[in-house]
Amino acid sequence: MKRSLLVVTAIALISASCSNNNTASVDSPGGVNSIEFHLSPEGVPIYSVKHKGETVIGESSMGFDFKDQPSLHSGLEIVKTTTNTKDETWPMPWGEQREVRDNHNELIVELKEKAKPNRLINIYFKAFDDGIGFRYEFLAQPGVDSLVIMDENTEFQLTGDHTAWWAPGDWDIYEHLYNTTRVSQIDAISKRNHPNLAQTYIPENAVNTPFTLRADNGVHMTFHEANLTDYSDMTLKVDNSTFMLTSELVGSDRLGYKVKRALPFKTPWRALIIADKATELIDSKMILNLNEPNKLGDVSYFKPKKYVGIWWEMHIGKSTWDYAGSQDMNTWSNLANLKPTGKHGATTANAKRYIDFASKNNITGLLVEGWNVGWEHWIGFEDREGVFDFVTPYPDYDLKEVVRYGNEKGVELIMHHETSAAPRTYDQQMDTAYKLMQSLGVHAVKTGYVGKIIPKGEYHHGQWMVQHYRRALDAGAKYQVAVNAHEPIKATGIRRTYPNAIAREGLRGQEFNAWATDGGNPPEHLPIIAFTRMLAGPIDFTPGVFEIGLPTKPNNQINTTLAQQLALYVVIYSPVQMACDLPENYEGKPALQFIRDVGVDWDKTVVLNGEVGDFVTIVRQERGTGNWFLGSITDEQARDITVTFDFLDEGKTYKASVYRDGTDAHFRNNPTSIEIEQMEIKKGDSKTFHLAEGGGLAISLIQ
Ligand code: NOJ
Ligand code: CA
Repeated sequence: MKRSLLVVTAIALISASCSNNNTASVDSPGGVNSIEFHLSPEGVPIYSVKHKGETVIGESSMGFDFKDQPSLHSGLEIVKTTTNTKDETWPMPWGEQREVRDNHNELIVELKEKAKPNRLINIYFKAFDDGIGFRYEFLAQPGVDSLVIMDENTEFQLTGDHTAWWAPGDWDIYEHLYNTTRVSQIDAISKRNHPNLAQTYIPENAVNTPFTLRADNGVHMTFHEANLTDYSDMTLKVDNSTFMLTSELVGSDRLGYKVKRALPFKTPWRALIIADKATELIDSKMILNLNEPNKLGDVSYFKPKKYVGIWWEMHIGKSTWDYAGSQDMNTWSNLANLKPTGKHGATTANAKRYIDFASKNNITGLLVEGWNVGWEHWIGFEDREGVFDFVTPYPDYDLKEVVRYGNEKGVELIMHHETSAAPRTYDQQMDTAYKLMQSLGVHAVKTGYVGKIIPKGEYHHGQWMVQHYRRALDAGAKYQVAVNAHEPIKATGIRRTYPNAIAREGLRGQEFNAWATDGGNPPEHLPIIAFTRMLAGPIDFTPGVFEIGLPTKPNNQINTTLAQQLALYVVIYSPVQMACDLPENYEGKPALQFIRDVGVDWDKTVVLNGEVGDFVTIVRQERGTGNWFLGSITDEQARDITVTFDFLDEGKTYKASVYRDGTDAHFRNNPTSIEIEQMEIKKGDSKTFHLAEGGGLAISLIQ
């Protein structure tokens, strides 16, 4: 008796209802978003979503196809509905802000198949004021150990031909440019055979997530998923004429299915961020709130940091990863017979040069790529199993000495493990490699998965690889190692549960500017990324190129101004931010002061303005110092940005250094034209700044 009274109270309080046996609904705490659920006369589960009373997702059905049992799509009945409410605040060990509020109402719908074998499936819906999420739970079935999913058929019925920012639903790589079209014009298939990508597999007209849309009434929506654990990445198949999106899971050709799980289990959350303005998409922390709390406890072994690296010099062709420095990694050769040509980047002396530069410039990390045995056999070999060795340095690189010298100068090594997409080789060595790191006091690793996955028939984004990427986080936690994965599985808020998941690539990073044959990242790339990929989680973009003309790469240049390169330290969020250019390109440049000063770990973040694909301005307050930093970037259009400094603390005068585009700056013709000006700024001041084509603005506000 007492228990049911409590349930009734909860239902009344959170305005969730179950008006008859076949319908149920839940509103977000502020009544902004609501989810309605019902069963059709055939017993098909159907949901829809409203934002401020307007439908944003029309009636959409749910269902699954399995290998050894009939589909679960119709013939269901509601057994029970339950509602819960939550309002709590949790701390971020590192992040864009100190604390995150999780305030939502939940509706749990328990469903049962009416006919035999009476299978059970629960659907958990959560309504937040910044969006909605739902997930499925498959319950135990007598005599059945595991479920083999051939297809998940979750629909998302859009209400019109919205403007969409989309990247193709590639099963292997997220490093495509985003495209801007109406939903009716989405054509992912045309993006197969990408000239710059080592692997692409786009089997359907599907898009990857985060996938952002703007309806003609101005409502913005981003589809993504949260807590992708032991399941496959969800892409969204697009019907160009009905505007219906349907989940399309990444599969395994080797295993012949999409997902296999022991019963019972829960799927990842299907998530939709809903906002009235573009900037609110970035404000949303819903993806994190749909993840489990921190299960690692104290991760203070990882300190957010700026880092330099023996890295850009390889991408611009000045040095090589492999020891012989031949840049011909296509022949098997005996390491003992290789004759170094002096072009190998990862030498002890070069590492010390970078450490000296870092320690002088308030940079506390050093990445060294090409340090270990294996690069001489890498490219061109189908069988990359057993090629890389993650504990044995090349003869000209003294790992221990680099670590020792770094410690002396306050610079910690970031280890590098290029797996060459041979995860079984990496699995075998992971413990030994992480143990070595722990013994050296090295607490972060950059991993890489370039190439087609071995074994054949697996894809980077399938369940088998999702499990592998998670094993790296588990092993990392054991040895106090934080992971920055390149060619990763997408971020789905796992960093909340595993705060050693510090950053990842999973987009066209800076490196494309060095060697892309399609002209590099266009100026609109990052103003799109801020409202798409960045909503998934921290990005290792590697900003900070000062020699924008790339003299060693006559056909390439960076399509931003220098001021924009500075602004990226604030606009793009990551707890590891590279100063990617070579020390000699920074020395003596006044703009370097911004990189010296800028923070990497934040108390607060405020998105001041922005429109998807056009521009964005973000300010962040540094933990510990209270200093504020502003970054603003624009696409190929010049524009004036007015900043009202309301975010500053009351009664304080800040010493501001303003790094703005020179009057004649232009990303193509005059990218390095920059003006640096000192001024005093107080709360409430308002100033207008001009951003050049492809330009930016960076301001440090020091207390
Ligand atoms: C691709 C990564 O994105 C890049 O940062 C790295 O230098 C190369 N792979 C080599 O591992
Ligand atoms: Ca990459």
